[in-house]
Amino acid sequence: MLSRQDYIDFLLDHYENPRNHGALGDASASITGGNPGCGDVLTIYLKFGPDEKVEDVTFEGEGCTISQASASILTEVIKGKTIAEVDDMDADQLMELLGREVVVSRPKCATLSLDTMKAAIRKYRHDEVMEQVNGLVDSNAMDNGLAEGSISGRRNQR
Ligand code: FES
Repeated sequence: MLSRQDYIDFLLDHYENPRNHGALGDASASITGGNPGCGDVLTIYLKFGPDEKVEDVTFEGEGCTISQASASILTEVIKGKTIAEVDDMDADQLMELLGREVVVSRPKCATLSLDTMKAAIRKYRHDEVMEQVNGLVDSNAMDNGLAEGSISGRRNQR
C-alpha cells in the first residue's frame, strides 16, 4: 500500500515529467476545460479507433501540480479503454488513483482532467450526430434535386 509520501512523489513526478504531453494533430476530439476559480486550463486531445477505443490521448495545459499531474495520470490510464469505459469513470475512482488523502482537499484540481475528458467525449458524440444529420440533409437535398430534375426533365419533354 502506498504511503501519503508515495502519492506526493507520484504526483510530483507526473507534474515534472508529464506523460502524453502536447497537441495531437489527428485528434477525433479536443476541448479546453478550465477551472474558473483559479484560471487553470487543460486541453485534452482524444483519438478513437474504429472500435471506439482510445487509440491516443494527449493534453496541454497550465495549472497547479494536482491538475496537471492528474491529466498526465489519466491519459496513461485511459489509453486502450473504450469510450463507454472512460465515460463511466467517476471522480471517486480518479481520487483513489491520485491518492485520496493527498487530493481530497483539492477536488476541483483533481477532477479537472476527468471533467474535460468527458466534455471532449460529449463533443465527439455531438459532432458525430451532427455529421449524421448533415448527411441526411445532404442526401434529402440530393433526392429532392433529382426529383426536381426529373420533373423539369419531364416538363421539358412536353
Ligand atoms: Fe487551479 Fe488547481 S489551483 S486547478
